[in-house]
Amino acid sequence: MPGSFDVKLEETVYLPDPSVREQSWIGDYDTEYQRFLRDPDGFWEGIADELDWFRKWDHVKKWNPPYAEWFTNAQLNITHNCLDRHVKDGRRNKVALIWRGEKEGEERVLTYRQLHRQVMRFASALKKMGIEKGDTVCLYMPLVPEHIVALLACARIGAVHNIVYGGFGAGALNSRIRDSGAKLVITSDVGYRRGKRVALKAIVDEAVVNAPTVEKIIVLRRSDPGPELFSEMEVDFYEVLESGDETCEATVMDAEDPLFILYTSGTTGQPKGIVHTCGGYMVGAYYTTKYVFDMKEKDVHWCTADPGWITGHSYIVYGPLSVGATVLITETVPDYPDPGIFWRIIEDFGVTIFYTAPTAIRMFMRVGEEWPDKYNLDSLRVIGSVGEPLNPEAFEWYYRVIGKNRCPILDTWWQTETGMHMITTMVGEPMKPGFAGRPIPGVVADVVDAKGNPVEPGTGGLLVIKEPWPSQMRAVNNDDARYRAYWETINGYYTAGDLAVKDEDGYIMILGRSDDIIIVSGHNIGTAEVESALVSHEAVAEAAVVGLPDPVKGQMVKAFVILVDGHTPTEKLKSDLIYHVRMGIGPIAMPSAIDFVESLPKTRSGKIMRRVLKAQELGMDPGDLSTLEE
Ligand code: WT7
Repeated sequence: MPGSFDVKLEETVYLPDPSVREQSWIGDYDTEYQRFLRDPDGFWEGIADELDWFRKWDHVKKWNPPYAEWFTNAQLNITHNCLDRHVKDGRRNKVALIWRGEKEGEERVLTYRQLHRQVMRFASALKKMGIEKGDTVCLYMPLVPEHIVALLACARIGAVHNIVYGGFGAGALNSRIRDSGAKLVITSDVGYRRGKRVALKAIVDEAVVNAPTVEKIIVLRRSDPGPELFSEMEVDFYEVLESGDETCEATVMDAEDPLFILYTSGTTGQPKGIVHTCGGYMVGAYYTTKYVFDMKEKDVHWCTADPGWITGHSYIVYGPLSVGATVLITETVPDYPDPGIFWRIIEDFGVTIFYTAPTAIRMFMRVGEEWPDKYNLDSLRVIGSVGEPLNPEAFEWYYRVIGKNRCPILDTWWQTETGMHMITTMVGEPMKPGFAGRPIPGVVADVVDAKGNPVEPGTGGLLVIKEPWPSQMRAVNNDDARYRAYWETINGYYTAGDLAVKDEDGYIMILGRSDDIIIVSGHNIGTAEVESALVSHEAVAEAAVVGLPDPVKGQMVKAFVILVDGHTPTEKLKSDLIYHVRMGIGPIAMPSAIDFVESLPKTRSGKIMRRVLKAQELGMDPGDLSTLEE
């Protein structure tokens, strides 16, 4: 466990127009934060009261560390809040979902009424198939409306969904099906990616061998002609849908009943099945969607993640639908058929809130401003980032080129385990590139040393959450020891596994995972910090840094660098870059070696797998590669 270490902080402040704050749901951050601190339970109760419950709670929370209960004895169904509530409140003809395929003109639109109907029908059909409350259903699907219908149908009847991202292979899918004990798998024959078919069902066929809990497989047939469904295990998606009744009452769920299991995309160790429950998760997803994104009824929200990640659960599905906005989903990737596709979609559909990942933003920077400049991005109001640190250069580019110096940027720090945004700069507050921001009202976060003592501003340490929050994970499926480790490692705080540093104003900069720390001559260096320094050089498009053993310093820094088109990889450039890092962070962080490369190994969620680079350097086994993007 690393202790504390010094970080050189340089700050630029971007001040949003005062109208942003005036028109926001959150209003003044400090006022709201203080209101939360004075009465945490009252604060959360106020949020929960904005939603519909079949029965209200006896207690807002019960905290028996490390086990939490939120909204004890309350009863609800999250789909009632995402669908019935809007249909009932006169939003029935409002567009809930817009799907855009890869091909121009391939579009589908579902109103809240239509989505509600389809979810009820599918839910009723699942019941008829024998799926009961508490059963686990695994979804392995492309990003099409049927995916959203299927997952909401599970939630409607209290089946626990376990969504596995369609990019995972058969081995990863099999271990997730087995660990979650899924009774049913819902899949599709194919997905479409970069104009090519991705065979999903073929992977399911392989993954269900040695998965004895699986009784049935529902197959959405998209290709024409579709595949024959052979064994008695397989059924057609639309046949199932048609067998359902027109209505299906939402099953009454206890606030603490599980809603879903989601396996983390961690870069080390076995995947963990993170369990989220109905009540607290709903409140957390709703609250942050409304108050962090500042989502209004008129908004068209586009989160470019996949439902297979927590970002998709909270900010494609449950958050925006519980708020009642219009959600855009698409199968497109950022650079196909050309790197203008995202900006074209924003213009076409009038997207107002756009949420993506730094890796995509840096790719866009590399290909140049001429792509976004071809399109009208005036509809955008709020733009966000998630998944890894948004380095200052990427912030500046995103702010200027996409946000037109007008849209607040939300650099949102959170995790699969937290279920909701935890640290960011709320809309209307001064933004500091490189810093995610302060904990949002409702969250108590800090940077501490290995013993749990808060460190001074400018001193790096471990990021912890000190108080429970409604959408905290309730368990690691089948592994209580791993669950407890989150809370029992440092002084009873929730340990996020990230390194961070605070400034005098309490803004938090995320430095990278604590397992990615490099210790050089006794100094701890965050890989993300060195990478950010490298990327701030005009010749560098992307960088990854690993620690390699060094007989004198303990570890040395080795960097892998992708150059911006037009720059030549020379020895001179290597020394320039080393000098650049020396000037930026200090001599301890200077890379001892730099390799110029064409690409970097990444997880499918876009995180650089430094472990793979390291293993390559050391001629060692890179370990589990199930999360590696091809
Ligand atoms: C880890 C969680 C939360 C959805 C996406 C990933 C890193 C996430 C940020 C950010 C710096 C970030 C952290 C965290 N991370 N957001 N804004 N700035 N780092 O979910 O797969 O559970 O990964 O992603 O290291 O611990 P996840």
